[in-house]
Amino acid sequence: MVYFKTLDDFNVKNKTVIVRVDFNSEVNPQTKQVTNGIRICAHAQFTLKELAEKGAKTVILSHQGRKGDPDYTDLKQHAEILRQILKHPVKYVDDLFGEKAQNEIKQLQDGEFLILENVRGWSEETKRGTPQQQSKTDLVQNLAPLAHLFINDAFSVAHRDNVSVVGFTAVLPSVAGRIMERELKQLKALENPHHPCVYVLGGAKADDSLEISKYILNNNVADNLLLGGIISQLFMAAKGITLGKGSMDFLAKKELLPLIPGIQELLTKHPNKIMLPVDVALNIDGNRTEIPINQLPSTYPIFDIGAKTVENYVNILSKAQAIVVSGPLGVYENKDFCYGTKTIFETIANSNVLSLAGGGNTIAAIDQFGLTNKIRYISTAGGALVEALMGKKLPGVTALETATNTKPADFSQQNKHT
Ligand code: 3PG
Repeated sequence: MVYFKTLDDFNVKNKTVIVRVDFNSEVNPQTKQVTNGIRICAHAQFTLKELAEKGAKTVILSHQGRKGDPDYTDLKQHAEILRQILKHPVKYVDDLFGEKAQNEIKQLQDGEFLILENVRGWSEETKRGTPQQQSKTDLVQNLAPLAHLFINDAFSVAHRDNVSVVGFTAVLPSVAGRIMERELKQLKALENPHHPCVYVLGGAKADDSLEISKYILNNNVADNLLLGGIISQLFMAAKGITLGKGSMDFLAKKELLPLIPGIQELLTKHPNKIMLPVDVALNIDGNRTEIPINQLPSTYPIFDIGAKTVENYVNILSKAQAIVVSGPLGVYENKDFCYGTKTIFETIANSNVLSLAGGGNTIAAIDQFGLTNKIRYISTAGGALVEALMGKKLPGVTALETATNTKPADFSQQNKHT
């Protein structure tokens, strides 16, 4: 049973709160400008707006990229984006827990926001540890005494035991923010979904998709699994369908072929639940050509599922009572090969049942097809959602559960600057 406290359990008026959000956004590697602020928007519209309205003094912690990666930047522009969304004062300081940051925190007024420096600029952030161990680090030791409450709103980074994710829960009253709460509620609903429950898995991360497949099939979470993308090619190969040299070389290059015995076991155990393409769209010198599976092998690469497969999948989805989709079914970025992904995603968007989408390129594909406001629930998470769907415990969530179970809030006992 997941148990965690939320913003409903604390009066944050005049209180200093530290919020871990995930502002990690797509960034243009040349200009370093944020190109998609969907996560900033989500935190802003729910948790942060509420904190401002309730008169909290809000200190924001986030990462952006990984040190050395092209999308690693400071959070100055994130502060500007947040300011524009909230139309509210948002300060930024290029310091994480030093004197500058501490002084700014002490000067915060009710309803104001302060964004501290990218947590990943500090090398200790990503060192692994328990909440207790992480609470001994400089970040927590310097900031916790200035705050009354820790709010973890970053579901999408809950699969990391980073200092800023779990460390404060060992020393401060801690609650889930509204985004964290929404994401966990959706996942909870999917633990015991209405049936038939259909999972649609695609994308390029075939190893992740296989782990999810094993979990949902072996635990009777899903009644049907509809496959597209690279994972469907791997399943086809496991079934003995000869794809062709190009596809097999690709699977070999990605080191996916060792997964085949595990897939064969799954296919034997659940022969009627796993649905594979019956036809595929080949990329023949840039042109889409559909062929039935029995015409494989081909020297040309498979870029999409075919029209007959789409029809089969739509038929199964029309009977579903719950749907989870993670990953596009083909090369959706190319207009000649987006048919499968677009039609399946539109079908999900038009269905009235509980539907959850997230992970990998799913959000970008949904955005491209103009379906952002139509899918019932779009998770802000990539890797964290995938791990949760695999049935793994997320350290960020466990830390919240432990914190709230053992530490009732008592603001009067805290040694605060106010
Ligand atoms: C994500 O984009 O999945 C999260 O922000 C986590 O980022 P990370 O994989 O760099 O920890």
